[in-house]
Amino acid sequence: MLIRPRRNRKSAVIRAFAEETQLGAERLIYPLFVVDGKNIQTEVQSLPGNYRWSIDLLIPEVEKCMSLGIHSFVLFPAVNESLKDKWASYSFAEDNFYLDILRKLKKEFPEICLMTDVAMDPYNSDGHDGYVNEKGEIENDKTLPILSKMAVAQAQAGADIIGPSDMMDGRVAAIRKALDEKDFQQVSIMSYTAKYASAFYGPFRDALDSAPKSGDKKTYQMNPANAMEALREAKLDYEEGADIMMVKPALPYLDIIALLKNNFDIPIAAYNVSGECAMLTAACQKGWLDFNKAMPEMLVSIRRAGADVILTYFAKSYAEWMKYGKTNF
Ligand code: PBG
Repeated sequence: MLIRPRRNRKSAVIRAFAEETQLGAERLIYPLFVVDGKNIQTEVQSLPGNYRWSIDLLIPEVEKCMSLGIHSFVLFPAVNESLKDKWASYSFAEDNFYLDILRKLKKEFPEICLMTDVAMDPYNSDGHDGYVNEKGEIENDKTLPILSKMAVAQAQAGADIIGPSDMMDGRVAAIRKALDEKDFQQVSIMSYTAKYASAFYGPFRDALDSAPKSGDKKTYQMNPANAMEALREAKLDYEEGADIMMVKPALPYLDIIALLKNNFDIPIAAYNVSGECAMLTAACQKGWLDFNKAMPEMLVSIRRAGADVILTYFAKSYAEWMKYGKTNF
């Protein structure tokens, strides 16, 4: 045998020469759940190690993450049921606690990168990402102005990246136009371009109490069986001015990440969603998997598939592992 691939695997040093994919903490975005109030840090039962934070306790947590090399965060609000209505009007209200948290974090950490979520579901009484009419249908075009107002309010509060996660048609263009009209040309849009109607969002909906009150999200989120449709969505978002396009979830859709990466010239993001993280965490708690081996393998696979940016609940754990516990593959 002239060619023996095993020679390039014979020692840790040689394996490092041959290693094709690196993942640093600078490519990670850490999702955090926030609540109104003080002195609150409530663990999300179905997503151990993740909490609903009030701002006073969030600030030291963010500081810790920054010292580990995590500089980007995406925030999600858990909104009191009494503030929800059909139009999600609290999402752009003057006294909205989420917007207040954005302002406070920006003031405390001017170098931070803050991403926000644009969708109606944390704020509307229906638990849907769009406006629900009398017939129970999600109305695309009535939703767009609401999303645009939400995005502008978030930009005003200091958001660096707006993340429309709603899957309405035409929302990237609508949000871009609304932002530009208010002189927020420098605020980026990371669109949830190929967001699937997935079973893996369960723990997230627990964290925010945002599960749909009736029906499901299949009339706007994508069919898990489809790939060409992701290209169609991506063409639209690209033309509408998205700066970064996201695939969500990540692990069951690595092929979609690769597909977008190979067809577009802007950064591709992947959202390693709550259910993906929960299943790994659960298996590790049972002693069935080794967290410090399985977690980095999971994240590197997403990078290898083509993701330039990864949103993951393991961001802090990964950064800690990089700093204190890194072992080579
Ligand atoms: C809401 C939204 C969801 C997630 C991010 N934004 C849930 C959904 O669409 O129902 C899921 C994230 C996760 O599971 O980690 N628009």
